[in-house]
Amino acid sequence: MDLILRLATIEDLPLLVQHRRAMFEEMEVYGARDLDAHDQAFTSWAEHLVMTGRLVAFLALAGGRPAASCCLWLREHQPRPGLETAHWPYLMSMFTEPEFRRRGAARALALAALQWARERGFAHVSLHATTPAVSLYERLGFTRTWEMRRNLLDEGPEV
Ligand SMILES: CC(C)(COP(=O)(O)OP(=O)(O)OC[C@H]1O[C@@H](n2cnc3c(N)ncnc32)[C@H](O)[C@@H]1OP(=O)(O)O)[C@@H](O)C(=O)NCCC(=O)NCCS
Repeated sequence: MDLILRLATIEDLPLLVQHRRAMFEEMEVYGARDLDAHDQAFTSWAEHLVMTGRLVAFLALAGGRPAASCCLWLREHQPRPGLETAHWPYLMSMFTEPEFRRRGAARALALAALQWARERGFAHVSLHATTPAVSLYERLGFTRTWEMRRNLLDEGPEV
């Protein structure tokens, strides 16, 4: 299958919302009501960021049809020695339509996002992977980091 990759425009936002919803649906964690609300919230959030260049999305087309997409979010970050950029790219919303899976679409999109970030001088790209995507990212050189998190809804030492 020949894939054509291109950058998304604001006109592609409904597709990005649809793919992001489909990604969450496959996780089987959220109900329809939460996902409906999220579609709206994500659309407003992403619209502003796409328009200001802080959310860059990549599409893979197969036979003219959208087969897969992902987004690179330039997250604001605190200054850190040796890193002059105020934004750190975060790869998110990776989704391939089921009929186009296991043909390298996600890998091609991730590579395009990495190249995009490297060409603009960013030092790294981070992400949170779903279980099915871990090996894809590991093969592209992603490694685990040392972020820690305290769930405030859990029982535990008094806060
Ligand atoms: C995870 C996901 C994005 C992968 O998309 P994809 O386009 O199928 O990914 P790729 O084709 O690049 O790679 C997937 C696998 O197919 C294999 N593959 C790629 N081209 C292949 C080919 N021509 N023949 C056989 N296998 C192939 C890859 O080696 C990879 O193997 P792995 O799972 O053992 O690592 C897709 O399954 C998906 O959308 N899942 C639901 C949403 C989700 O979890 N998104 C990730 C968010 S972090």
